[in-house]
Amino acid sequence: MDKKVLVAYASTHGSTQEVAEAVAATLRVHGLTVDLQPARDVRRLQDYSAVVLGAPLYMFHLHKDALRFLSRHQKALTGGLPIAIFAGGPIESGDGKTPEAGDVWQETRKQLDRELAKYPWLSPAAVEVIGGRFDPSGLRLPWSLIPAMRQMPPSDLRDWEAIRGWARDLAARLQPAASN
Ligand SMILES: Cc1cc2nc3c(=O)[nH]c(=O)nc-3n(C[C@H](O)[C@H](O)[C@H](O)COP(=O)(O)O)c2cc1C
Repeated sequence: MDKKVLVAYASTHGSTQEVAEAVAATLRVHGLTVDLQPARDVRRLQDYSAVVLGAPLYMFHLHKDALRFLSRHQKALTGGLPIAIFAGGPIESGDGKTPEAGDVWQETRKQLDRELAKYPWLSPAAVEVIGGRFDPSGLRLPWSLIPAMRQMPPSDLRDWEAIRGWARDLAARLQPAASN
């Protein structure tokens, strides 16, 4: 039987989960068998030929469920199991006219690279920054107490075409691994 690809995600407010669902759907359309699971529920990786891990950044750090996932599965991930990682996410686009607009994405990428550097053994096959979604009315404590955060406008910078395109490229790369 063909082996499966695992799409594991960490998500507090659901936006990364929705991206993980879109990634899983795209991989399936391209012929891969896919399991989609919250990262914190994954106990073993033996059944998989490749892993995609998605997580948001919060306060400069990758979601703790993703950090724990990487620590817990170090052995499998250093034993030849390919992993691709996507992370959100920028929630401010700037006005698109100033140089700062692109800086938000670059800053998220830097944060992500810093987080992944904590795992020197990790060698992802692909790393992608995706846009985030922000809803000030859904802020949790302690962030809901910070006026500057409450006053930020709602946003959703997830680019579904780009996300599906990334997953499509990934499907082509994972094809040989998934059919071993
Ligand atoms: C309190 C708070 C802190 C955040 N910190 C960061 C950050 O440090 N870097 C970043 O790129 N995005 C940051 N974001 C944006 C989130 O990554 C984005 O909203 C993401 O879509 C949330 O994912 P989720 O809905 O799956 O929980 C932050 C969002 C909130 C609400």
